[in-house]
Amino acid sequence: MTFTYQASRPYLTGNESAYVAEAIETGMISARGPYMQRFEQEFADFTGKAHGVACSSGTAALTLAMRALGIGPGDEVIVPEFTMIATAWAVTYVGATPVFVDCADDLTIDVDLLERKITPRTKAVVPVHVHGRRCDMVAITRLAREYNLWVVEDSAEAHGIAPSGDIACFSLYANKIITAGEGGVCVTDDARLAERMVHLRGMAIGGDHSFLHDTLAYNFRMTSLQAGFALAQLEKIDEILAMRGTIEKRYDAGLQDIAGLTLMPPREVLWMYDVRAERRDELCEFLAGEGIETRAASRPFDAARDGFVAAEGAAVLVLERVADATARGGRVHAVVRGYGAATDAHHATAPDPEGRGVERALRTALADAGLGPSAVDHVNAHGTSTPLGDVIEARALRRVLGDRPVVTSTKGVTGHSLAASGAMEAAYTALTLARRSVPPTANLTELDPRVELDVVTGAPRSAQIDVGVSTSLGFGGHNAALVLTAG
Ligand SMILES: Cc1ncc(COP(=O)(O)O)c(C=O)c1O
Repeated sequence: MTFTYQASRPYLTGNESAYVAEAIETGMISARGPYMQRFEQEFADFTGKAHGVACSSGTAALTLAMRALGIGPGDEVIVPEFTMIATAWAVTYVGATPVFVDCADDLTIDVDLLERKITPRTKAVVPVHVHGRRCDMVAITRLAREYNLWVVEDSAEAHGIAPSGDIACFSLYANKIITAGEGGVCVTDDARLAERMVHLRGMAIGGDHSFLHDTLAYNFRMTSLQAGFALAQLEKIDEILAMRGTIEKRYDAGLQDIAGLTLMPPREVLWMYDVRAERRDELCEFLAGEGIETRAASRPFDAARDGFVAAEGAAVLVLERVADATARGGRVHAVVRGYGAATDAHHATAPDPEGRGVERALRTALADAGLGPSAVDHVNAHGTSTPLGDVIEARALRRVLGDRPVVTSTKGVTGHSLAASGAMEAAYTALTLARRSVPPTANLTELDPRVELDVVTGAPRSAQIDVGVSTSLGFGGHNAALVLTAG
């Protein structure tokens, strides 16, 4: 079907033909042609980054970024639910696992949900500036710093949004803000990453042309024909962005009072103009009849949607459905509402001197249970009972829960870092909830005077206890948490 008004049409009013013709006349048509370096440097300058690496597509750019960062089998990379599939495929191409996070109402990745998906295997997050709308890069960068993650921006739809991640990847496909027909480009401030991406895109041939390849690489080269074309587009980019901005305003004005349509939040640069429509399919059909092309937005890719995957180790607990347990006559002391597991974010058994893993496990468990910190009456923590360990644990608890809940410990009973201590601790919490009071045997009723556990009080409370947390389940590492509610 041809449309009078296409969803996208390239704006080719500059030096495109002249530069391509020059490349043909000089015979410099492969990746080594004269336009390549100019395009790479001028595109990098445009984005405010130091280095540009041009390649064959946006998908190739994302794949090069993943490989350059050393991401591979066993690693997880967080990608948004709502994007074009290449974002997730690039992760899969390098053998890693994409972990999907739903989008917020503006269609960019929901940063609140993002943190819940971080596991010790997470190596990177790929924010996508959907339709030219900037993700919350301040929050994403803060999380990335906290959990030591790489940030790879998928800027395929966002030429003109200044990147702030470690690498940003742009597409130059025909319908993008600027184009080379096909093509992609990565930008970064890191010279080593840029060098690595150049090496990988060119089959790891190396400077000596020995054809001895030091790694499995790709032919993701861009031709000089494309680079010339892209350079001509780049020369016009300010004009193109301004024109698109005008189009956006015209749509906003024209569509704002139409029943059944809801305008979307503004974009920083306009790629596709998006709008929510109550009767979407009917509207698309009607517009097609008028010669106007529209696109129905893609569905989320993750069939399981927002499922939470718990880390290993919680397996020390044999959990049973409440219905099954009661049906066989079992007594249900407590019901697990949510669970989280974390270490220091990257190393399965590394110590966690800041207590960030404890904190994160707790927050995840609470969020998973759908409860706020103020719901928790009792915490049973597997502290180390040392001046070092207990302080870490106690501070992390206070950061999440304040100083309200009664905190106890089973440390003296089971020993440190045994898987059994996890089961023990959960059982202890369950019994506390069943009895609705803290047993006088709680380990932390006697505080080590050297430890500044000002948040901890082991005194039994008379008030009923309905929600408890068992933290640091001790499965060969640290920092898992269960949220249990009275059964
Ligand atoms: C968000 C996003 N990521 C990646 C890509 C892939 O770019 P390309 O088509 O150049 O491979 C696209 C392009 O459609 C995209 O919209």
